[in-house]
Amino acid sequence: MLDSGKIASLFDRVLDLARLGWGNTHPNPMVGALIVENGDVVAEGYHKEVGAVHAEVAAFSTLGRKPREGAALFVSLEPCSTHGRTPPCTDAILRSGIKKVYVGCSDPNPKHSSRGLDILRESGMSVELSSEKDQNRATRLNFVFNHNMLKNSPLIALKMAETKNGMVAEIQGVPSRITEAEARANMMHWRRFFPAICVGAGTVLSDDPSLTARFPAETWCPLRIIVDSNLVTLGSLVSDRVIYTDQFADRTIILTTSHGLSRQDRVSRAKELGVRLVEVAEDETGRAKPDALRSALNQFEMNAVYCEGGPTLARSLLNTGNVDYLFKYRSPKVFDHEQALSGPDLHDFPIKEPVKESLGEDYLTHGFL
Ligand SMILES: NC(=O)c1ccc[n+]([C@@H]2O[C@H](COP(=O)([O-])OP(=O)(O)OC[C@H]3O[C@@H](n4cnc5c(N)ncnc54)[C@H](OP(=O)(O)O)[C@@H]3O)[C@@H](O)[C@H]2O)c1
Repeated sequence: MLDSGKIASLFDRVLDLARLGWGNTHPNPMVGALIVENGDVVAEGYHKEVGAVHAEVAAFSTLGRKPREGAALFVSLEPCSTHGRTPPCTDAILRSGIKKVYVGCSDPNPKHSSRGLDILRESGMSVELSSEKDQNRATRLNFVFNHNMLKNSPLIALKMAETKNGMVAEIQGVPSRITEAEARANMMHWRRFFPAICVGAGTVLSDDPSLTARFPAETWCPLRIIVDSNLVTLGSLVSDRVIYTDQFADRTIILTTSHGLSRQDRVSRAKELGVRLVEVAEDETGRAKPDALRSALNQFEMNAVYCEGGPTLARSLLNTGNVDYLFKYRSPKVFDHEQALSGPDLHDFPIKEPVKESLGEDYLTHGFL
């Protein structure tokens, strides 16, 4: 018998295992699993990437034999019960002969929710859900997957870093340092998580960002989406921007309008650079419509995007209900230069069930709007 303290620590471990799939499992969830015999963990597994075996099957395969009498399986998400890219995990669990399964949280998809648990229970297995606190943690981990399942839509996350007095740039048009090392590392971690990243033309012009996630052992480039109605970022004096000229240039796309596409010189430059142009609908002012971002994500089969602003694009996404999830970084600095640039008033957009983190001298609050 496992006591509640041991069960809680094993759930900690399955969540750590699940996180090993960080950013690689989209559109699938991150899932971890382990097998316990006589209180000892004898095998672990996780879902490494889309198309790879599921966590439970990975754990059975690591074990390489039948689990012993009395063994238990821990899995962070309800086992799947349907044929997808891989056969149902409920079949593998039944075949293993295991009799006890601890589950982190149920499947959010209303079509599947509790089906896997029922199948296991009906075959005589003991199935236990984790504590409410651990269910919340396991559910939260896969907030993108859950959103996709429940809303049948990609998730648009907006990141804004602002000073204590609500500024997003010390001097408009000049790159500025708002947050410090820990918060910046945290942003890199989230860049690594999302399959796509997005900014408006203004940020490309002023900051020349790379929009990659950079670590000592890896540089990761998500699909980079630039919203640029008139292709101003392909003007002859500015088109040497990093996102158009680095080794990942073929991972950059520009959402533009018919007006942008009428600029032959800029269209030719995009061709030379290997950057894709995607025509989207425009609003009454001639700008790319804010909901074009969601349509583009659907078109490119991306289940989520991390939009890094800037403030003009952010305001327009927020004001049209096109932000699902907000990452709000707050620094204690005050920018009082007369040309300091203010961000959208985020007080108007309260975050539900916020997660709050202290990152050195900075703070992060994130959650659904
Ligand atoms: N602190 C932060 O978190 C943060 C993040 C990013 C940037 N910044 C700062 O923000 C400054 C740039 O600000 P910005 O507002 O110019 O950048 P931006 O929001 O990245 O770009 C704005 C431009 O995007 C284009 N756009 C296309 N469709 C749009 C739509 N539907 N709604 C709104 N814009 C649309 C517009 O140009 P067209 O009309 O030509 O298409 C617009 O001028 C820089 O100083 C940068 O450092 C701060």
